[in-house]
Amino acid sequence: MKTIELANGVKMPMTGFGVYRIKPGEDTKQAVLDALKNGYRAIDTAAAYMNEGDVAAAIKESGVPRDQVFVTSKLWLQDYGEEAAQKEINRVLAATGLDYFDLYLLHQPLADYYGTWRGLEQAYRDGKLKAIGVANFTPGVVLDLMMNNEIAPMVDQIELHPYYQQAENVKWLQDHQIVVESWGPFVNGQGGIFTNPVLTKIAAAHDKTVAQIILAWLLQRNIVIIPKSVHEARMQQNLGSEDIQLTADEMKAIAGLDQGHSAFDWNIMDNFNNPAMIKVLNDARVHD
Ligand SMILES: NC(=O)c1ccc[n+]([C@@H]2O[C@H](COP(=O)([O-])OP(=O)(O)OC[C@H]3O[C@@H](n4cnc5c(N)ncnc54)[C@H](OP(=O)(O)O)[C@@H]3O)[C@@H](O)[C@H]2O)c1
Repeated sequence: MKTIELANGVKMPMTGFGVYRIKPGEDTKQAVLDALKNGYRAIDTAAAYMNEGDVAAAIKESGVPRDQVFVTSKLWLQDYGEEAAQKEINRVLAATGLDYFDLYLLHQPLADYYGTWRGLEQAYRDGKLKAIGVANFTPGVVLDLMMNNEIAPMVDQIELHPYYQQAENVKWLQDHQIVVESWGPFVNGQGGIFTNPVLTKIAAAHDKTVAQIILAWLLQRNIVIIPKSVHEARMQQNLGSEDIQLTADEMKAIAGLDQGHSAFDWNIMDNFNNPAMIKVLNDARVHD
């Protein structure tokens, strides 16, 4: 399994497993058990997915040592603020028994993300978080955060798939030693992504699936992937993209699929001027 080195020297697996939209409880636990059994060693969860505890329970039950699984989670807006962030980190680590997170992200660039970042910096210094970063932050906001704090985000997890490629943003982040991680690589199955003619043709040429070609296209640009599936055959498929080499022409053909905007109206990165969405995100409560 390939890894990428973060700015602080921590090695992060290039391929991980996302658990968004998997039902909390037994469903998440079973999916993570299956993922670990099939060789995944990185799991991406979040307070907002309400399944951090199920991820932790699956790791424990799997018998895979804690230090061999790279666990990422994200702080929701409900717990933003310097002290509130640290309190939530302490709460979730104690409740799940995970001891530490390998990577912990600010989930949204809203509310008091400056104070919250300082809370993450402190938890990082205390060893509770091995690396810290952000999600859904545009380069301008990332730079402002970097210029007004001590530690720069080590990762930015953003929506990236053939229909929304954010090439300039990816370049800026990578040029600033921030590892880029893709969420929604398959557009969550929407937009006919799996039957797209350009992708289908490339998949046939490599005797691979469209899913594997999309993941290879991301990996080839040094982008970390965390595809989600509740089916073991697909989990295995999605692990099999690290050795695919796409040609320059194939990379160019996929670049041509970019539609230049988010596929989701709730992606704050591309809908920052939508007051209704800002309200929905700020109002959301993800735990008692
Ligand atoms: N930071 C953020 O704001 C944010 C936002 C969204 C997501 N994320 C993270 O990114 C992860 C991935 O994104 P996502 O879950 O939204 O969507 P995704 O990975 O783009 O797509 C998942 C969908 O594709 C299907 N699928 C998976 N592998 C397949 C394959 N090989 N062939 C055919 N269909 C396949 C899945 O169905 P089955 O499950 O039925 O197989 C599911 O319907 C999330 O789980 C989460 O960890 C982060």
